[in-house]
Amino acid sequence: MPQILETLSRRLDSALLPPRAREVRRRHLTYLTPRKLRALDATLRHVCRAGVAGDFLEVGVALGGSAIVIASRTEDRHTFHGYDVFDMIPPPGPEDGPRAHRRYAEIRSGRSGGLGGDPYYGYVDDLYGRVCRTFSDFGLPVDGRRVILHRGPFEETLKADDRRSVAFAHIDCGWHGLVSLCLRAIGPRLSPGACVVLDDYNDYGGCRKAVDAFLAERDDLRFLCRAPSAVLERRADA
Ligand SMILES: C[S@@+](CC[C@H](N)C(=O)[O-])C[C@H]1O[C@@H](n2cnc3c(N)ncnc32)[C@H](O)[C@@H]1O
Repeated sequence: MPQILETLSRRLDSALLPPRAREVRRRHLTYLTPRKLRALDATLRHVCRAGVAGDFLEVGVALGGSAIVIASRTEDRHTFHGYDVFDMIPPPGPEDGPRAHRRYAEIRSGRSGGLGGDPYYGYVDDLYGRVCRTFSDFGLPVDGRRVILHRGPFEETLKADDRRSVAFAHIDCGWHGLVSLCLRAIGPRLSPGACVVLDDYNDYGGCRKAVDAFLAERDDLRFLCRAPSAVLERRADA
C-alpha cells in the first residue's frame, strides 16, 4: 500500500477505536496496532452477540493493554483470565526463526526500548503490582471473580486438567512452542462458536507453523479471518 494510504488508514483505525482501547493506546499499554485492537474488539462483539458460553482468556498480558480491552467486554456470566510470567520473557525455541531469536537477544541485553519512550516493561520491578493497579484505574479490579491474573510460566499456569469452557481467547506470545502449548491447553475447552485470536500469525513463522499444524488436526475449527491477526472459530454446530 502506498505510504500516504497507509498513514490515512492508520489514522482512521485510531479514530474508530472504542474509547477504552483509545485510552489504552494513549497510555502506552499495548503493542497491538490500532488495526489489531479494532479487529480484537470486533471479534469480542461477535462472540458476545452470538451468546457463546465460557470464559474470556488472554495468554500474554505484558502491561495489560489488550487484556483491558478484552476484560471490558465481559458480561456478568463471564470471567476474564490473564496469563503471564509478569517478569523477564522466557527464550524462544529451536522451531522459531531468526527474528524471534534476535528480538530475545535484544531484550536480554537490557537494550530494548519500551513503548512511547518508557522503559521496556520486562525491566520494571513489580510488574504484576503495576498491572493490577492499571486494571483498577480502568474500573476492572483484579478481584478473583470477574478478573483473574495467573502469574507464572504458561507451562505451569495453563493447566491441562482445567475443564472450564472458553468463549474467547487471545494468544499473544509469539513463539512456536508457546503457541502450540496454548492451543493444546485451550483447544479442548472451546465452546461451539468460540473464537481464538492469534496475534502473531503474520509476524512470526513459528506461530504460523504451530497454528497450521493444530488446524490440520481439527475439522471443527476454521479461519474466520487471517489478517491483521488470524482468528479461528469453532463451528457453532460442532
Ligand atoms: C507480546 S507480549 C503481550 C503483549 C500484550 N498483549 C499487549 O497488549 O501489548 C507477550 C507476553 O507473554 C509473556 N510470556 C512469554 N512467554 C511466557 C511464558 N512461557 N510464561 C509466561 N509468560 C510468558 C511475556 O513475558 C510477555 O509479557
